[in-house]
Amino acid sequence: MTAPILRRLADLRALTSQWHRNGEVIGVVPTMGALHQGHLSLVEAAKAGADRVIVTIFVNPKQFNNPEDLANYPRTEHEDAQKLGPFDVDAIYVPDPDEIYPQGFATTVSVTGLTNVMEGEFRPGHFDGVATVVAKLFLQTQADRAYFGEKDYQQLMVVRRMARDLDIPIEVVGCPTVREPSGLAMSSRNLRLSPEGLEVAANKHRIMSDLANALRDGAEFDALAAQAQTDLLAAGFTQVEYIQLRCAETLEPLTHADRPARLFVAAWADGVRLIDNIPV
Ligand code: PAF
Repeated sequence: MTAPILRRLADLRALTSQWHRNGEVIGVVPTMGALHQGHLSLVEAAKAGADRVIVTIFVNPKQFNNPEDLANYPRTEHEDAQKLGPFDVDAIYVPDPDEIYPQGFATTVSVTGLTNVMEGEFRPGHFDGVATVVAKLFLQTQADRAYFGEKDYQQLMVVRRMARDLDIPIEVVGCPTVREPSGLAMSSRNLRLSPEGLEVAANKHRIMSDLANALRDGAEFDALAAQAQTDLLAAGFTQVEYIQLRCAETLEPLTHADRPARLFVAAWADGVRLIDNIPV
C-alpha cells in the first residue's frame, strides 16, 4: 500500500495532532530521498519503535556548500514512494520548499564545537543547514522519536546535541550503517559512481578495517593513518580529505583507541565525495 504523500504542513499537522490525541508514539525518518537499504533499515527501526511512522523527503539546499553537488543530488520521489510501499508507513512528508523556508526565512540553528571538525571543516555551513532543517522537521512532525544512520556519525551527534540544547522533546535513535557486500557504506551518492568508481570505492572499508584492527591491538594512530592514506590513493581514490580517530562520545581527537572510538574517513573516488566511519 502506498502511504499518502503530504506536501503542506497543515495536512501533516492534522494527522500528527490526531495521532497524539490517540496517545500514539510518532517516529520520523528524515531523508533527502534517493532511498536505499540504509534508509529502509531506519524505516524498519521506526516501525519497531513507534506506532506511527513518517518518512520525510526534502533535498535541503542550506546544507550543500557546493552548488554542483546540490544540482547533481539524485531526486527520485516516485521510486522512493514505491520502495516505501512494503513498509506501510503512515505518511511521506515531501514539503513544498516554502513550508521549510518561507519568504523572509531568517533563522539559523548553529551547534558549536562538534561542528568545527571533519565535515564541518571541509563543508563550511553544512551543519548549520542540517541543524536548521532537522530542527524544523522535528517541530513540524511533532515526532517522539527520530531515526538517523551512524554512517553520518557526526551528523547524529550534532542532531542529538541540538535537540537536547533546544529542549525538543524527541529521542534521537542512532542505527548501524548498512553496507554493500563489498563493505561500501550505502549512500545516495553511490548512485553517481561508475562501475569502475564502485570498484575503487569498495577498497575503503577493507583499508579502514585493517587500520581499525591494528588500533584495537593498541597501535598508535598517526603512522598507521599515513599508511592508510597511501593505500587509499594506491587503490584509486583521487584525494583523501581526512582520516581521523576520535572519541565516540565527545569527538575529541585520539592518538590511541584507549576508549570507545570511531575511525572517520572522507575521500574522493570517481568525482564523488564519500564518507564513512567505523567503531573501534
Ligand atoms: O542525512 C540526511 O539525509 C540529511 O542530512 C538530513 C538529516 C535528512 C537533513 O537534511
